[in-house]
Amino acid sequence: MTANEYKIVVDQALEGYFCADGFPFAGLAEAMRYSLLAGGKRIRPMLVLEFCRIAGGDTDAAMPVACAVEMLHTYSLIHDDLPCMDNDDLRRGRPTNHKVFGECTATLAGDCLQAEAFGTILRCTLPADRKAACAEILAGAAGLDGICGGQYMDMLWEGQILSPKQLNDINNRKTSALLIAACQMGVAAAGGTEEMLDCAARYAAAVGLAFQIRDDMLDVLSTEQELGKPIGSDAKEQKNTFMALYGEEKCAEMVSKLTETAKLALRECFDDCDFLCELADSMATRRS
Ligand code: IPE
Ligand code: IPE
Ligand code: MG
Ligand code: MG
Ligand code: MG
Repeated sequence: MTANEYKIVVDQALEGYFCADGFPFAGLAEAMRYSLLAGGKRIRPMLVLEFCRIAGGDTDAAMPVACAVEMLHTYSLIHDDLPCMDNDDLRRGRPTNHKVFGECTATLAGDCLQAEAFGTILRCTLPADRKAACAEILAGAAGLDGICGGQYMDMLWEGQILSPKQLNDINNRKTSALLIAACQMGVAAAGGTEEMLDCAARYAAAVGLAFQIRDDMLDVLSTEQELGKPIGSDAKEQKNTFMALYGEEKCAEMVSKLTETAKLALRECFDDCDFLCELADSMATRRS
C-alpha cells in the first residue's frame, strides 16, 4: 500500500468508532470524533500496519491496534493544546477541541480517548498474548516514562536553558516513545521476534528524534495554513526546542543524519522495507 492508501483505510476504520447518537453522553463522543476525524497525517497507525506486514502479520487483524495508537495520540494533542499546557487555538486546520467544546469536555474527550485506546486493543480479535503485548507497549509509551512524563518535563523546564541531554530526555518521552510503541505494536501484533522488536525500536528512536526536530523547525519556518496549527507557539510559551538550541542549519543536518541512521537500522533486520525508508524520508522533509 502507498502512504495515501494507508491513510484512507485508517480514516475509514476510525470513522466506525464512538458513534454514540442519542445517549446523554453523545456530546462527549462528538468531541472525541471532532479531533479524531480531523485528518492528521496518520503516521503512527501507518507504522503499526507496515511493521505488522513486514513482520509477517495480518494487517486487517492489526487495524484496531493502529486505530488505538491514533486515539492515544489524539488525546495527547487535545491535552497538549489546553490553556494550562500550550494554550493553542488551532489543530489539524480546525479550532482546538477546547475552543469548540469547552475545557471540561475537551479534558474528558482526551481522557476518554486514552481509555478507549486500551479497550480497543483488548477487545480486538488478535490472540490474547499479542493483545496483552500491544497494550503493555502502549501503556509504557503513555505513562510516567512516556508522553505524560515528557509533557511534564516540557512544562517544568519552560523558560530555562537546557543541556542537549535534557532536551533529548524530554523528546524521547513526549514524542519518540509513542512512535517507538507504534512500530513495536506492529511487530507484536504479528507475533514477531525480539530481534524485530529491537530493530523497530532503533528505527523509531531515530525517526522520533528527527520528527520532533522537524516539528520544532516548522513551528518557526512554516505557515499556519500549511501546518494546520499555530506558528510561533513554542516561542510564545518559552519552550525549549531544537531550533532554539541548535539553529536551522544544524537542525536540518541532524534530521538528515537521523533519517539515514533509521534506514540503516531497518535494513539490518528486514528486507522488505522500502515503504518505511520512504516514509522516513518524507517525514524528514515534511511541510506539515
Ligand atoms: C504532532 O504530531 C505532535 C508531535 C508529536 C510533534 P503529528 O505531526 O503526527 O500530528 P498529526 O497527527 O499529523 O496531526
Ligand atoms: C507535543 O509537542 C507532543 C505531544 C505529546 C502532543 P508539541 O507541543 O511541539 O506538539 P505540537 O507542535 O503542539 O503539535
Ligand atoms: Mg507541547
Ligand atoms: Mg503543542
Ligand atoms: Mg511543536
